Amino acid sequence: MRVLVVGSGGREHALVWKLAQSPQVTEIFCAPGNPGIAQIATCLPIGVTDIVELADFAEKMKVDLTVVGPELPLTLGLVDELAKRRLLAFGPNKLAAELEGSKVFSKSFMRKYEIPTAEAEVCTTRAEAEKAVKAFGLPCVFKADGLAAGKGVVIARDEAEKEKALKLFFGERVFGSAGDRVLVERFVTGDEVSCMVLCDGERAIPLATAKDYKRVFDGDRGPNTGGMGGHSPSVFVDATTAREILTDIVHPTLRGMAEEGRPFRGVLYVGLILENGMKPYVLEYNVRFGDPETQCVLVRLEDDLLPYLLGSARGRFDENAKPVWKKEAGAAVVLAAEGYPGPFERGKPIEGIEDAMAEEGVFVFHAGTAKSPDGKLVTAGGRVLVVTARARGLSEALTRAVHGAEQVQFEGKHFRRDMGSKAMEILRERTGSGLS
Ligand code: GLY
Repeated sequence: MRVLVVGSGGREHALVWKLAQSPQVTEIFCAPGNPGIAQIATCLPIGVTDIVELADFAEKMKVDLTVVGPELPLTLGLVDELAKRRLLAFGPNKLAAELEGSKVFSKSFMRKYEIPTAEAEVCTTRAEAEKAVKAFGLPCVFKADGLAAGKGVVIARDEAEKEKALKLFFGERVFGSAGDRVLVERFVTGDEVSCMVLCDGERAIPLATAKDYKRVFDGDRGPNTGGMGGHSPSVFVDATTAREILTDIVHPTLRGMAEEGRPFRGVLYVGLILENGMKPYVLEYNVRFGDPETQCVLVRLEDDLLPYLLGSARGRFDENAKPVWKKEAGAAVVLAAEGYPGPFERGKPIEGIEDAMAEEGVFVFHAGTAKSPDGKLVTAGGRVLVVTARARGLSEALTRAVHGAEQVQFEGKHFRRDMGSKAMEILRERTGSGLS
């Protein structure tokens, strides 16, 4: 079977790595890929937004399944273009991808189907936003309606931050048309959890739980990023909460989307907050795998990923489909370039990947890397590499990932060492906690 993976990050490297292990996969292409992916797949010079070119390639090369990594090609209708040509694709179509593509759509969808989420107002002017902030009080959250490369959510904790946010959204209009409509949302405190479920339009197959750490610095300080690391299991989700997430959130979402004529296929990634002692709330929907949650989860998947992706793409999972997870934990540490998540340096030579990979249970997934004209591996993105480790326990997996992160060298490298300290505290408090 021929598979095309669309994307170029650490998430796509992990997907290609896992799919390459499938006995059914004979050839893997990746568009555009990265130097790490190029070691195990054929990379193509086609960008993720080149919808027609991607579909032309899949048609010409008789690709059996296209797996779409990032949200942008999904919201641009890549799956629809492939479907027009009777080609199978893993991921939601354009209508279903609006769950991530428009925060205004997803908020009104949640209201309509009574899915727990924070109160919010849709604002198009500064005056409306000021009124909403007054009603909710500080802190509160500003969210650009459209896709904003992970930067469209701003938490205003005090008056100064509120003024800054108002200026950003309504004065400077840094989000362009993605910020034409802005959600001002009540702030909910608690532990954030990433819940990813594979969907075939009706059924949901939960993946192992995971948690990511979005702030750039240790101690959850500094600005938000795409994710500086994470671990699986999340440890914040016990069996009761996991059931609640499925019955109160995931199943109503799938039923609602089907009722709206937008049946959801692909991976639904629900960003949740667990308010102390309260029911889980939806912070946001994503319509693709999380990055770096996917790396933490896929290193734990015992069985073949391909049949799940095929079942989802065909609109029907196998009757008995139920993933088997290794009784081990996964942890990921993102190595970022100097300046990230602001403007960052590129072209810095990278060394030590082989040393990190020589450690037992350590996998280094490439994200923002490139080959220089003289063939050297250099940095080319904000998140450069994702050092991922698997080990018998969460603490060991995190230690291994941090140790691996220390082996890799490039000028300006920075990463978080503290991830999981809160998780470890919770684990220590619990007795007999199992992995899930
Ligand atoms: N790790 C957060 C995300 O993938 O959106």
